[in-house]
Amino acid sequence: MKKLLAVLLALSMAFALVACGGNGGNNTADNTANNTNNTGDNTANNAGDSGDAEQPGAGKTVGIAMPTQSSERWINDGANMKAQLEALGYEVVLQYAEDDVQMQVSQIENMVAQMVDCLVIAAVDSGALTAVEAQAKNAGIPIVAYDRLLMDTDAVSYYASFDNKGVGTAIAEYIVEAKDLEGARAAGESYTIEFFMGSPDDNNAVLLHQGIMEVLQPYLDDGTLVCKTGRTSFDETCILRWSQETAQQWCENYLSGFYADEDLDIVCSAFDGFAYGCRSALESAGYTEENWPLITGQDAELMAVKNIISGKQTMSIYKDTRLLAEKCVTMVNAVVNGTEPEINDTETYDNGVLVVPSYLCTPVAVDINNYEELLIDGGYYTAEQLAE
Ligand code: GAL
Repeated sequence: MKKLLAVLLALSMAFALVACGGNGGNNTADNTANNTNNTGDNTANNAGDSGDAEQPGAGKTVGIAMPTQSSERWINDGANMKAQLEALGYEVVLQYAEDDVQMQVSQIENMVAQMVDCLVIAAVDSGALTAVEAQAKNAGIPIVAYDRLLMDTDAVSYYASFDNKGVGTAIAEYIVEAKDLEGARAAGESYTIEFFMGSPDDNNAVLLHQGIMEVLQPYLDDGTLVCKTGRTSFDETCILRWSQETAQQWCENYLSGFYADEDLDIVCSAFDGFAYGCRSALESAGYTEENWPLITGQDAELMAVKNIISGKQTMSIYKDTRLLAEKCVTMVNAVVNGTEPEINDTETYDNGVLVVPSYLCTPVAVDINNYEELLIDGGYYTAEQLAE
């Protein structure tokens, strides 16, 4: 009981700590790494040295392998998890692989060699880690998959993520409502649309596309939505490593070719980074307030929310990285201390070898009408950050 109380106390402290940041670690005003997450941060920090045996993480180390610092969200994910784990007494080794598969493999190999007590992995390429995952399993090191499912391995114990298909449906339903596609259909009107989908080596991207098409396919079929490039399948619209530059290039090409004589009305983008790229392409092509398209995104990054406020992006998907980190931390605690974490899905996430027990958080659409309530009142960003 005493131990349980200590755990609860530590958890609430972790939240206080995160909340005190005002924004769950979202302090970076731009996409550059902040001081908590250096790529070379290979040394365990001092929080676990307190030697407080009551803390569940006392004397234990967690290795966190994150994909990249090029996108603000992963910086926040890493910072949130590090803070929460340290508040429970864990030592943390946090590394970013800058979207380099080989770099991530060697980072995890090093963590295995260091004999960390648990690994948390958000993969660069979800299927490319099978060998190092097997090494971890042989060494008795449990693995928790963070946000991106780890494919083709039996070495993963749990998965913490958002409802990824739900992200797709939320984006598509937003488009249906904002453009009143039912009304357009009844009036025989149409809107042009192009798709910018996520990385083919990320299971999230596949599910997101499925969610989008479940809602939008009927409107494409009856001509209410017109995709002039004809590129609607996942294979035709996926962008390797979620590259903003590729999205921008594609958008530039589309605008100068297929859309030379007609406006693009809807940019259906699966990621805030794509929305930034498309924004640049649209500006270069001379789009103004008059014909600015509806642009979707995902992650509610600080820059995306600023763009929503200025009208350059229409919506994003808010995925509270504090909550995701919290769920992941409970999984780490469970595997390290031999208890059962809370899970809410045991059917969806089949990685090709096993169905991974998961906790899925709920994604929420954010736009100009609800960003204050969701993000400022919710303590994710401060009004000052958004005003900068
Ligand atoms: C995905 C994730 C998205 C977005 C994307 C690019 O795995 O689900 O929220 O962050 O990676 O980083």
